[in-house]
Amino acid sequence: MRELSIFVLNGPNLNLLGQREAQWYGTTDLATIVRDLDALAKPLGATLTHAQHNGEGAMVEAIQQTTADGAVINAAAYTHTSIALRDALAGTQLPFVEVHLSNVYRRESFRHVSRLADLAVGVVTGFGPDSYRLGLEGLVRHLRLADESG
Ligand code: DQA
Repeated sequence: MRELSIFVLNGPNLNLLGQREAQWYGTTDLATIVRDLDALAKPLGATLTHAQHNGEGAMVEAIQQTTADGAVINAAAYTHTSIALRDALAGTQLPFVEVHLSNVYRRESFRHVSRLADLAVGVVTGFGPDSYRLGLEGLVRHLRLADESG
């Protein structure tokens, strides 16, 4: 079983996790989410790299530059607006899972639209930090199945 490389990309304002709108995002900070994901990735045979960017252009650059096998992406507000991110994901053909801490479908209608979701392997929304865990597990399984059939 080959070691998989997975890029975990977080978008704007997710650096504020732990202090920000706890009713939606809970009290766990991003550093804790990253540490817990790294621990989970090990037994799955995956190595993670992490980035968080507040700017759309920096996220586009990160997607263009990654050499990972796949990505877990919380694009935060850019999920709902960014054709540039969509084009980067379409252009690179990077397999990715879209994740959100909150259940975006319980919130304002502008959050019900994703510019990315139809390109994703899958979407996980509403499980707090577990959304990342579930997204990572689903992505690893998807990539392993693709390896077996390829
Ligand atoms: C979010 C949901 C988005 O609508 C919001 O803009 C975020 C975080 C989430 O993880 O629940 O910043 O992606």
